[in-house]
Amino acid sequence: MDSRNTSTGGPYYHTPVMTKKVLDALSLRGGSVFVDGTFGGGGHSSAILDLFDCIIIATDRDVNSVPIAKKLNEKYQDRINFYNASYTQIPSLLDSLSIKKVDGLLLDLGVSSMQIDDPKRGFSFQNEGPLDMRMGKNAISAFDVVNKMKEEHLSEIIRDFGEEKHSRIIASRINDYRQKNTINTTTQLSDIINDAVGNFYKKQKGAHIHPATRTFQAIRVFVNNEFEELYALLMGICDYIKLGGRIAIITFHSLEDRIVKNIFDHLTGYSSSKSRYEPKIEDQTNPPFIYPDKKFYKPDGDEITQNPRSRSAKLRYIQRTEHLFRENLDIYSMTKYKRILKELK
Ligand SMILES: C[S@@+](CC[C@H](N)C(=O)[O-])C[C@H]1O[C@@H](n2cnc3c(N)ncnc32)[C@H](O)[C@@H]1O
Repeated sequence: MDSRNTSTGGPYYHTPVMTKKVLDALSLRGGSVFVDGTFGGGGHSSAILDLFDCIIIATDRDVNSVPIAKKLNEKYQDRINFYNASYTQIPSLLDSLSIKKVDGLLLDLGVSSMQIDDPKRGFSFQNEGPLDMRMGKNAISAFDVVNKMKEEHLSEIIRDFGEEKHSRIIASRINDYRQKNTINTTTQLSDIINDAVGNFYKKQKGAHIHPATRTFQAIRVFVNNEFEELYALLMGICDYIKLGGRIAIITFHSLEDRIVKNIFDHLTGYSSSKSRYEPKIEDQTNPPFIYPDKKFYKPDGDEITQNPRSRSAKLRYIQRTEHLFRENLDIYSMTKYKRILKELK
C-alpha cells in the first residue's frame, strides 16, 4: 500500500508506525497532557487525539510541520500546541506554559516520508538532489561535511555514526574526488561510495544494503546532531514526567536503538554496562524509571507489508517511578565532535 493512503493528507504525508502499540505503551487517559517531540506529519498525535480527550504539546524542527499542525489544530479544536523547534526545547517550553508535569513523551526518531521523498532535502541517495540533509535550521549541511571536513574526521564520522567498516576508503575516495570537483549532489556522492566499496558490499553474505546507506546515515546524524539532541532531551525531561508517566521511543537503526537502550537501562537501573553513550545513575536500587513490560517491540508482518519503511522500527518504553533523577553528565561527552564541528564553521 502506498504510504500516502493512511497519511494526514495534503502535500505532506507520513504513515505513523506501530500506532496501536505506541498508544498502549503510553498508557494514556483522558485529561492528560502529552508531548510529541517529533510531530512530523502528525500521524501519532492524530491517533492519540482521536482516542483520548487530552492536550498535546508538540515540536518538530521541520518548518513543513507547521501547516500540518495548524490544520490538525483546527480539526482537534486547539488541543495541539505545536512549536517549530528542536525537542531539546521541550523542558523550557513546558516551563513557559507553566506545565510542571506531563503524562508521557513520544519520540519517533529519524526522518519522515515527507523529508526522505523530497529530493530537494537531499536525504536520499535514490533521488538526485542537493547535499543538504538539514531537518531544521542547522548550522551546517551535508555539503559542508562532504566538501570541507578533513579526510580523517570524515572517516571518523562515517565510522562512528554509520558503523561503516570501510569508512577510511570512502573518506579517501571522497577526498580524491573533491580535489578536482565539488561534490554537489546526492547521486554524485552515492556514485563515489559505490565505486569505492560497491564490490565489498556485493561480496557480503546475508541481507544486502546499498553501499551508500551507512555513509548517508552517518552524515545525516552528524548534520542534525541527532545523538546529542536525544541525550540532552532525555536528561532534561525526566523530572517533567508524572509518577506512572511513560517515555516511548521508536528508533530506526541499530546504533540509535543501542543508545536508547543504554540510556533506558541506566534510567531503570537495569544494567551497569559502560557505554560512552550512557548516563550514570548513582543509586541503582532506587531508579527513576522502570521497564513496565517486555523490552522492545517491532512491527508485525502485516504492517511491514503495508508500510515497508516500518521494517527497521523498534519501540522501547519506560515508566516514571517516585524516585529522584540524578545523573552524571560527564559520562556522555561529545566534546570530540564539537571540536570537529567547530572547524566547519
Ligand atoms: C519519523 S518522523 C515522525 C513522524 C510522526 N510521528 C508522524 O506520525 O507523522 C521524525 C520527525 O522528527 C523530527 N525531528 C528529528 N529530530 C528532531 C529534533 N531534535 N527536534 C525536533 N524534531 C526532530 C524530524 O524533522 C521528523 O519530522
